[in-house]
Amino acid sequence: MTNPNQSSNEALDIIRSRLNGVIPKLAIILGSGLGPLVEAVQDPTTISFTDLPGFPCPSVEGHAGSLILGQINGIEVLILQGRSHYYEHGDATGMLIVIETIKGIGCKQLILTNAAGSLRDEAGPGSLMLITDHINYSGMSPLIDSSGNDRFVDMTDAYDPNIRNILKVVADENEIKLYEGIYMWFSGPNFETPAEIRAAKILGADAVGMSTVPEVILAKRAGIPTAAMSIITNYGAGMSDTALTHEQTMKNAKIATDNLIKLISNYLKNLR
Ligand code: HPA
Repeated sequence: MTNPNQSSNEALDIIRSRLNGVIPKLAIILGSGLGPLVEAVQDPTTISFTDLPGFPCPSVEGHAGSLILGQINGIEVLILQGRSHYYEHGDATGMLIVIETIKGIGCKQLILTNAAGSLRDEAGPGSLMLITDHINYSGMSPLIDSSGNDRFVDMTDAYDPNIRNILKVVADENEIKLYEGIYMWFSGPNFETPAEIRAAKILGADAVGMSTVPEVILAKRAGIPTAAMSIITNYGAGMSDTALTHEQTMKNAKIATDNLIKLISNYLKNLR
């Protein structure tokens, strides 16, 4: 196993050398099909994950695997285009170094985005959902096998209430419909069965997906205030006649991407 601290420091040094003393206020991790947010970045500096020791090398189409530094609306941001998913290798610690590096750089907040299936009839494909809490149905944790008392992380308010409130206000101001709901993490890569979707509804979930939860656990341990938003790309299995495919996920992500870019870039004005 790689030494997390050593790798983290190597990645940190590389990123710091490109930052020239600037500390990005916000880190953003982009989900499937959300790459176009990068086009909103002014003066971008791009570093490939392959040049950052300990960073994942994503194998999923739509996840490029690069880190972009620059400004959106004049605010310094650090964007991660691509992430590690548990289903790629059966390892929930794939984003450990990334989150530790974000912490080490001094980013004050983290916003995660993902693609998800909706369990709510009113929140169809193309909707945006602000995650209020999660249910970890995979049973995995990125903290398994770590030591020390800080592994016993309090997951209350893992989705920072303050950031959520501001995002809701900004969504209202910009006439963006922002649903709120609970995200349930399935390991993937297969989609859920209709029976699992019915069970998820009974358990209190509003959306299902294959990412985000490990990063949120790691960010909570690191003490980084974090928010997460889902782009709804489809209804959960059995809720509609449309077959579930990765291609459909990518296509429907485009519909909500404009709203998400608008929401995040206007949110950034509050960090001035
Ligand atoms: N299930 C799990 N993950 C997903 C889905 C889904 O229906 N849609 C997009 N990501």
